[in-house]
Amino acid sequence: MAKIIGGMGTSHVPGAGAAIDNGKTEEDYWRPLFQGLKPLREWHKKNTPDVNIIVFNDHATFYSLDAYSTFTIGVAEEFNPADEGWGPRKVPIVRGHPELAWHIVESAMSEEFDLAVAGSLDVDHGLTVPLSIAYDQPDEWPSAVVPVCVNVIQHPLPSALRCFKLGQAIGRAVSKFDQDLSVGIWGTGGLSHQLGGERAGVVNPEFDQKFLDNLTQDPMANTAYSHTDFIREAGSEGVEMIMWNVMRGALGDHVDEVFRFYHIPVSATAYGAIILENQ
Ligand code: DHB
Ligand code: FE
Repeated sequence: MAKIIGGMGTSHVPGAGAAIDNGKTEEDYWRPLFQGLKPLREWHKKNTPDVNIIVFNDHATFYSLDAYSTFTIGVAEEFNPADEGWGPRKVPIVRGHPELAWHIVESAMSEEFDLAVAGSLDVDHGLTVPLSIAYDQPDEWPSAVVPVCVNVIQHPLPSALRCFKLGQAIGRAVSKFDQDLSVGIWGTGGLSHQLGGERAGVVNPEFDQKFLDNLTQDPMANTAYSHTDFIREAGSEGVEMIMWNVMRGALGDHVDEVFRFYHIPVSATAYGAIILENQ
């Protein structure tokens, strides 16, 4: 049977992808981030699964705000890096896993979790930057990917609790999948940041660290925050943190934190990463 081997949370700041693409990771601004990510990359080298389920958001890149689904799963054979206005990133095409993706659709739907199904989906920085954070610049990504896209940009958004429950449904689906696959689950986005408006530049290390602590010590506490709580405490785009709840929901009741890194600033954001293993 398929098995989830671990979960990762990471910010998906596009500038970090650009730093890798343009050979700037040793520059003064970027060195602390990429130094800090070394143990994360070592963990990923040792723990490369067959498939990564990557929970991310489309930043109105592929989807138009005229028709935005709450949760979408990609079932295609492959996903192209999206053109976000300056040409697609020169990173490998993302290989899908249609069998596992369709299995998750069917299993979740049978539990009344109705997912939108995408037969094509160009993936923006929300998904490709985490791949670069974990795997740097390979000729091919080392694992297949099932993209799970969450609406965190056009209100009403799914609640933090609903995201956790989606993760639980994904976890149950994986455990019932009749192939010996190892599976990683990634939540992306955050941590605190606000890119525009009067409070542009807001970051909140106390809130971010509490959110990270809760992932191991009290995961349900992270499901009790309202969107207003996230926006007040962590900025308007800090609400992306609800996607980490999908990752956490897919793991077991008890997890070990094996890696954490937190760094300000990366672009106008607080960068955070965590790796969790089931106990
Ligand atoms: C930026 C964009 C994002 O989508 C994000 O999650 C963090 C930062 C940015 O443009 O800097
Ligand atoms: Fe984002």
